[in-house]
Amino acid sequence: MRLPAAVLALLVLTVIPAHGAPRIVGGVVVDDPDEAPWMVALTTSSGRQFCGGALLGSRWVVTAAHCVQGRTPGSITVVGGRLDLLTDGGSTSVAASYRLVDGYSAPSRGKDIAVLTLVEPMPYRSLPVAAPGVHMSGSVGTVYGWGRQAENDTNKSPLLHKAYIPIVPDEQCAATYAQFDARAMFCAGYPDGGIGSCIDDSGGPFVIDGRLAGIVSWGLGCARPNAPGVYTRVTTYLS
Ligand code: ARG
Repeated sequence: MRLPAAVLALLVLTVIPAHGAPRIVGGVVVDDPDEAPWMVALTTSSGRQFCGGALLGSRWVVTAAHCVQGRTPGSITVVGGRLDLLTDGGSTSVAASYRLVDGYSAPSRGKDIAVLTLVEPMPYRSLPVAAPGVHMSGSVGTVYGWGRQAENDTNKSPLLHKAYIPIVPDEQCAATYAQFDARAMFCAGYPDGGIGSCIDDSGGPFVIDGRLAGIVSWGLGCARPNAPGVYTRVTTYLS
């Protein structure tokens, strides 16, 4: 049977979005479980996902300080080995404790990083930390998360998403955000916006060459033009 071109085009348009539609904001679904085995979701005891994180070891998870501050460790459930949060694949563990950097107060003041210790170890490969001298300017990284796919997204996808995002020069970020501190943070985004991290992506990893270089921290809205996302500069705090 031969279909007219217009019908074919319509089929393509309606079929592709199920798997290829923009996600995170403007990203794609991660469907290979081996791509990011170290990726974890932070959820409440009732299973609501509120942040991301990454395994640094079988009992250690790195996330953002603002994800955990004010929560008791036992109320944080870490989910690993599960791309689709509506399934019960992978494994879970509650946090036994967490450490913040001395003096942490708010994401825009820096130090937005926390390391959780898990009650149960997780059997997944961990994410190595970027070397202190890692070349960041001009690099493109990959950010992972279960966060919103638009600033006002009220119906989040349960699927893990990722997006490739270029790092923005520090001077440019400082011109955008008065609170920018290049020792504690870096920025990543597209001049025209459209692709970036968003609410509930916080704590998730920004990966350069297979290593942890950043943590989703803050920003003005999500994926807006000329308003890059701000990421914790991991090499300042971990090595
Ligand atoms: N602080 C937010 C978190 O929950 C996300 C920050 C990312 N925002 C951004 N514009 N890149 O969940």
